[in-house]
Amino acid sequence: MQYDLGTLRKLVHRDHVHRSVYLDPQLFTLEMARIFGRGWVYVGHDSLVPNPGDFLTTRIGTQPVVLSRHTDGKIHVIYNSCGHRGAIVCNEEKGNAKLFRCCYHGWTFKTNGDLDAVAMPRGYGTSFDPRDPALGMGRLPRVETYRGFVFASLASDGPSLEEHLGFARTSIDELVDRAPDGEIDLSAGVHRYMFRGNWKLQLENSVDMYHVPFSHESSVSRSGRQFDRGTGQQAGSAISDRGSAAQKWEQRSAWGSRSSGHGYAGHQPVAEEENTDPIHRAYVTLLEKRHGKERTREILQPKRHNTAFFPNMTLQALNQHVRVIVPISVDRTEVNVYPIRLKGAPDEMNRQFVRHLNLTHSAASLIQTDDLECFRRCQEGLASQGSDWVWFARGVETDREDERGDYVNNGTVEVQQRAQFAAWIKLMTAEA
Ligand code: FES
Ligand SMILES: [Fe+2]
Repeated sequence: MQYDLGTLRKLVHRDHVHRSVYLDPQLFTLEMARIFGRGWVYVGHDSLVPNPGDFLTTRIGTQPVVLSRHTDGKIHVIYNSCGHRGAIVCNEEKGNAKLFRCCYHGWTFKTNGDLDAVAMPRGYGTSFDPRDPALGMGRLPRVETYRGFVFASLASDGPSLEEHLGFARTSIDELVDRAPDGEIDLSAGVHRYMFRGNWKLQLENSVDMYHVPFSHESSVSRSGRQFDRGTGQQAGSAISDRGSAAQKWEQRSAWGSRSSGHGYAGHQPVAEEENTDPIHRAYVTLLEKRHGKERTREILQPKRHNTAFFPNMTLQALNQHVRVIVPISVDRTEVNVYPIRLKGAPDEMNRQFVRHLNLTHSAASLIQTDDLECFRRCQEGLASQGSDWVWFARGVETDREDERGDYVNNGTVEVQQRAQFAAWIKLMTAEA
């Protein structure tokens, strides 16, 4: 199948998409070039590389890269590939280095990617110039940070990060403002796992509130309540089955941007419960010292449950974490889940965030395993000839446009997924 603009456009309709967008390796290759290869992609957080020489290895789409902090304190994103014969240079997940040394012939590179030295430098021809940037680990043309979140682009031109984030930026603000010191820390560790499914399944799911009472029934129904939240919130996580929770849920806002693909789901009713625990009270006092009572009340007002930053990052406010989606192939995806600690908050509170995320989003957790199993089943079922179409029709008649031209709706609709695919087709059919 050759994909020209016409065939691509036939794949995506307002409320349904063709199953091949999850299955066809050719479309995956196009996505890597046109979505991950052109736009802004989340790379990491500056708290993961706090000191000069700190580095972290990751991927932008399928491109291996290193996020590193250079000796001058500046953050760089460089290709993890040796300027000599292309070997992966940094093999570790993270670390601290004065120089990066390639395992193959010993060339060394500075932490900004520049070639430092060629091993056994005699015998090179006169045309060989070790100052030639092509011999270094190539630097990505665009790297920008928003409140600690580092994004990079493989392309030198395109909209600014500010334009790309747009209104979704306010979800980062809401999260970071909750830290008494005004910064968050992602260095507590990471839950990493792979699933047998397409990367978009995880992106869609992160802002899908429709699935919660069903996929997670064993955790959220009255009979199957499996875990308690933090101290002072012992009522558990009843989402679908406590009093008017389900009706309240229907009133929550849902937002999706057709131009960027970002979207969010309003907060869960459980987030509204009053917390009288002394540790929580101590935290509120710390916030009030910084912001005053009124602003603190505003900051702590639950607003959003999950925000998806197209194409590869999500923020969850309740079981607090940053999730990074790394596409491996059309039917294989890596997920990295970083617990968020709020700088300046009581240590015990931050410990609880980390512990609680072990329960909800680790590889053997009560929540995320349900989702991963659904992704696997989707990938397997979509490969059948049962039906060619995947539906995102819930709420389509009641989508409204906001002043930005984005979609807004309420509750458990599929407005965010409609927005994701509107952005997907826009990017997949855009001129280079
Ligand atoms: S491939 Fe890296 S030094 Fe030869
Ligand atoms: Fe889920």
